[in-house]
Formats: sequence, structure tokens, C-alpha cells
Amino acid sequence: MVKVDKFIPKSIERIKKEANGKTIIALSGGVDSSVCAVLANRAIGDKLTPIYIDTGLMRKGETERIKEIFSDMNLQVVDAKDQFMEALKGLEDPEEKRMAVGEAFIRAFEKEARLLEAEYLIQGTIYPDRIESEGGIKSHHNVGGLPSVIDFKAIVEPIDDLYKDEVREVARALDLPLEISERMPFPGPGLSVRIIGEVTQEKVDVVREANAIVEEELLEQFKPWQTFAAILGKGTGVKGDLRVHGWIVAVRAVGSRDGMTAEAMELPWSVLRKIESRITGEIASVARVVYDITPKPPATIEFE
Ligand code: XMP
Repeated sequence: MVKVDKFIPKSIERIKKEANGKTIIALSGGVDSSVCAVLANRAIGDKLTPIYIDTGLMRKGETERIKEIFSDMNLQVVDAKDQFMEALKGLEDPEEKRMAVGEAFIRAFEKEARLLEAEYLIQGTIYPDRIESEGGIKSHHNVGGLPSVIDFKAIVEPIDDLYKDEVREVARALDLPLEISERMPFPGPGLSVRIIGEVTQEKVDVVREANAIVEEELLEQFKPWQTFAAILGKGTGVKGDLRVHGWIVAVRAVGSRDGMTAEAMELPWSVLRKIESRITGEIASVARVVYDITPKPPATIEFE
């Protein structure tokens, strides 16, 4: 386990030494980039601009909360929702979707970096990101891309030796609010990996609402390592007196240490039933809710 009291001053020194000029960081609001932003703010606050890209693929209320939490930093919020929807249009293949989101992200970020004439980039890459990307399991958008398109003098990755639970420990020590330090991981490609097939605005709206319900019902009471909802496709249902062709929503709740392996949680039937009745009751276009019991491996945590 990392020694937090030593790690914090050491990484602040490292950032001061390695990022010796105008610096940017992509802040997603996840624990990794938040910890890096606070460390960097302490190290080189006057030279730092955190940039938050609003992809339109974030969870309910997320963008507003991030603006509030980081209001004391020089945070730039970039509305790139249209560009992301455009980039995803017509794509069904999971890897193509990931690449499209990654590219849209790079383009939006690159534009800001150029405008700001940034020389240094800070990235919240953590140890498992490096391993999964090096192993070629999937393209991880924290790691791929950016360095090759923008000519930064240096890229600083202050937490690239830490596991997730260690990052959380550092977050607590930095006095980040609990909703950040204990925040579930949320994938870089956002809700797009929780939609099987083409991403449309309708599916994003449905999956966002379903995610909010799942989080409300499970987060506090069961403290899952990660929980969310995904859209699988359409199926037949009966709503009122009508047969409908409605969305099938999958609910996932897993325990894990670092996301490399995971177990589906054994949730009480009554809780699962409540989630089902809220999702089908509150989201008119959903006809069916299923619970995913598959561990990782053989499944991944996310659906794409
Ligand atoms: P999987 O689905 O591969 O995910 O079992 C393991 C953990 O990583 C998160 N995840 C991502 N995080 N960028 C990220 O920052 C990504 O592209 C990405 N893909 C998956 C996932 O939510 C889980 O916590």
C-alpha cells in the first residue's frame, strides 16, 4: 500500500519539476483525474488549466456537480455534445465506437490546448490502465492518442503506479469530497459503452435515467465497487393494454478490488424487483429489466 503522507509531497515535487510551464489536465470528475488536478493545483496552481469536456455521455447531473466541486480552480468547461453524437453516428462496433469517442475527445481537447498554448499535459493514468492497454485487451482512452497529436514538452502521469484503492486513499488525504474519493469508476467513453449498438440521443437519455435509478437504489445501501445500467436492445412487452417493442435494460452490480476481476453481487430479490419496477415505471420506453450475474472473467464489467 502506498504511504500517502510521503506520496503527496513527493508527487507535488515531481509535478513542479516536470511541468515547468503552462499545463493542462483533462478533468473528468473521476477519482483519478480529480486527484491529479488537486495535486497539480497545489504544485503549479497558477500555471494550471483543468479542462472538462462535456461529451453528452455523462451521468445525470454530473457536469453541474463537477463545476461546483472544482469552482476554486480555473476550470474550463467545453460543450462538445454535438461533436460526440456526430462522431458516433452509424457506428455499431464496440471498438469503432471507443475509437470514435477517443478521437472526438482528443479533437476537443487539442483545440483547447492550442488555444491555451499549453506546453505540458497531466494525465490521470493509473497502473491497471497501463497493464490493460499494454496487454491489448481494449483501447483505453486515458492512454491512447493524445501524446501523438499534440506536441507537448512533457506528459506527466503522477499516479501511474497506483491501484484504484490507493488513489482513493490519496483522495481522502487531499480532502476531496466523499462523492469524489468514493466515486465509482466511470469509463472514459461514458454512457456509450453502456449502449449496445448505435448510440442515439434516445438511448443515451434512457440509459442515463436508468443509471440514475440504479445508483439511487444501490450505492448507499450496498456499496458496490461499481453499479450501472446498460441498454441491450429491444424486446416485446405489455404496457397498459398495449403490446410494445421496448428497450431491454441490464442492471450490473459488482464487487472488485481493481476492476481486473469482478464478481456479480448477490442482491436481495426485493431490491432487484424495486429496481425493475422503477425502471419500467419511470421510463416509458423500457419493457424489460435483466440482472447480469456474470463475473469478470469471462465477461467484462462494462458491456462494450
Ligand atoms: P471492463 O469493462 O474492461 O472495465 O471490465 C474495467 C474497469 O474500467 C472501466 N473502463 C474504463 N475506464 N476508460 C476508462 O477510464 C475506458 O475506456 C474504460 N473502459 C472501461 C470500467 O468502467 C471498469 O471500472
